[in-house]
Amino acid sequence: MIKKCLFPVAGYGTRFLPATKSMPKEMMPIVNKPLVQYGVEEAFNAGMTDMAFVTGRGKRAIPDHFDISYELEAQIAGTDKENHLIGIRNLIDNCTFTYTRQMQMKGLGHAILTGETLIGDRPFGVVLADDLCIAKGQSVLSQLVSLHEEFRCTVVAIEEVPPDETHKYGVISGQEVRPGVYRVDTMIEKPAPAEAPSNLAIIGRYILTPDIFDIIRKTPPGRNGEVQITDALMEQARAGNVIACKFSGKRFDCGSVDGFVEATNYCYENLYLTDDSALD
Ligand code: G1P
Repeated sequence: MIKKCLFPVAGYGTRFLPATKSMPKEMMPIVNKPLVQYGVEEAFNAGMTDMAFVTGRGKRAIPDHFDISYELEAQIAGTDKENHLIGIRNLIDNCTFTYTRQMQMKGLGHAILTGETLIGDRPFGVVLADDLCIAKGQSVLSQLVSLHEEFRCTVVAIEEVPPDETHKYGVISGQEVRPGVYRVDTMIEKPAPAEAPSNLAIIGRYILTPDIFDIIRKTPPGRNGEVQITDALMEQARAGNVIACKFSGKRFDCGSVDGFVEATNYCYENLYLTDDSALD
């Protein structure tokens, strides 16, 4: 059973300035719920209960969110407004939350390595909260857990992107072992269209095996001078130990203004208006 999920949340969110000047980008709400809460709910729904955050300066609102707010809760006790807290209380009651800080922004690989102290030596999930995933039925992370149980190795979620957008993602190619499931043989971080091995882009959901930490330690800085998780994963892929899965569901790039607005409209129409409790 995979119990732990890592949330790298130290990034600055410069695309959303000035909103993110003093507020973590992961606290930006899609309708009435912060992005990071969607991510934690997805991990919880995939069976994980130990939520581990790699935070940074200016991110204190995140630990505060996953804690009791005595004054506020006493104020609204016994009123309808309490219903809005059902979802977050459920997470607080059933999960543990641990935090460590990444003091310098040296890339996603470095952020994941910083989380080693919280994760230990068992396979774990990784959620990049600014990729919002909405699936009918099994959540995207849960789909990856099922594949990990089957293949016993690292699993990444992928989707097809337009060829002129490969420079925004880690891009893979591999052998399709069954429809939508690939054994990865190549991974490149943010390739130009001409260098891209395919248009299959990694999105922010991973199940990683713990040998990744030793591999990251040996991985030199890559694209943009940062330690890239994609480069470390390539080492696992060389040994045949990375599976990529075209997940079922929708994914919104909420790190971009367009994706954020699209997610807001989608969640408002498909969750908020149709089900009172969906966004609690
Ligand atoms: C990171 C990863 C990239 C992946 C992407 C998914 O990039 O480095 O491989 O495709 O997340 O969102 P970032 O978006 O942090 O630049």
